[in-house]
Amino acid sequence: MLTLQINDTETKMYNLQEIRKEFPILQREVYGKPLIYLDNAATTQKPLCVIEAITEAYTNVNANVHRGVHFLSQKATEQYEEARETIRHFINARHSNEVIFTRGTTESINLVAASFGDTFLQKNDEVIISTMEHHSNIVPWQLLAERIGIKLRVIPLTADAALDKESYTTLFNEHTRLVSITHTSNVMGVTNPVKEFIDIAHARNIPVLIDAAQSIPHKKVDVQQLDADFLVFSGHKIYGPTGIGVLYGKQQMLEKMKPYQGGGEMIQTVRFEKTTFNELPYKFEAGTPDYVGAIALARAIDFVNTIGIEEIAKHEQQLTRYALEQMNRIPNMRIFGKPDGSAISFLVGDIHPADLGTLLDRLGIAIRTGHHCAQPLIDHFGIPGTVRASFAMYNTIEEVDTLIAGITRVVKMFA
Ligand code: ALA
Repeated sequence: MLTLQINDTETKMYNLQEIRKEFPILQREVYGKPLIYLDNAATTQKPLCVIEAITEAYTNVNANVHRGVHFLSQKATEQYEEARETIRHFINARHSNEVIFTRGTTESINLVAASFGDTFLQKNDEVIISTMEHHSNIVPWQLLAERIGIKLRVIPLTADAALDKESYTTLFNEHTRLVSITHTSNVMGVTNPVKEFIDIAHARNIPVLIDAAQSIPHKKVDVQQLDADFLVFSGHKIYGPTGIGVLYGKQQMLEKMKPYQGGGEMIQTVRFEKTTFNELPYKFEAGTPDYVGAIALARAIDFVNTIGIEEIAKHEQQLTRYALEQMNRIPNMRIFGKPDGSAISFLVGDIHPADLGTLLDRLGIAIRTGHHCAQPLIDHFGIPGTVRASFAMYNTIEEVDTLIAGITRVVKMFA
């Protein structure tokens, strides 16, 4: 149970030290140095309440969901469906049957590519994506292109690495069927004005999928306010377990779409002559779902709600602003795009990102280096990769100082 008073009710202060105590891993050392975990865009650390929720579910309520008349199955089903309701509320979906549990962002996009693709797309139809997509929002569409002959149109970037809105408007034609773009770049930590992009698509009656994997841990995401047709995210990037994620889809769209995988749970009746399918959301949840993961994800969302997503956003924006200020003082520092609160990608002089990352690691600082599963974006910059520091609710100004000191030290070594 979460007993912590994260926000002091009198001072309304963001109680960083209390928050940090909830994350056991933050107490550990690496190479004899305190761990400074700045790889949150890859995955976030887990608070005790999430770790305990997993143990608690297996200890006390484990049974397959939607399949048993017995007590435990009913309890597990109840908690699984409560978890769905928690997610519905968090993203402000109209109905909980618009919330489908998947393994994560990647599976959610693959589901849409396969199911929306099979239902609505044919040869020469077009899907618009962007230059700054993660591979998980490129490759599923390429597989579909190979399978049925659709074409991809790619939104280019402006000189300051933002999505080029004017070019975007020119990509639509009579073949356009879907826009699928990221809310926040996993590489640059840049948040796109997706509402504007959705409105532009909707003015042409084109639905839009938003990849919210990198935005949902950092800002309020409201599917009704955005009017997104699909929105996807992963649990593990918002303090939940790995292997669980969400596909939000508008009911009228999901209802028309063909099932993704076949198996138990997604059916109504099965006869050798003909099978009929279950209602939403179960039509898209074939097989035993990760109900424990869903229950623990809901606990993570409760935890985020206890602190307040706006408070978290403010804190992370402060960290980002401070980090940018300090980084810009380092000679030959190159920062990619205009980060606004989740991640900063950078290079210093001609130091290879892998060298910088390895040396920072020895100082206890965990950052990510490389192409970050966004090779087309890295190619756009004509570089081998970047070093990326990414923030979460528990990072501190002191950690940023240690990062800056670490970078400065490495720069001196290479000078
Ligand atoms: N998509 C994750 C990242 O950006 C793994 O690091």
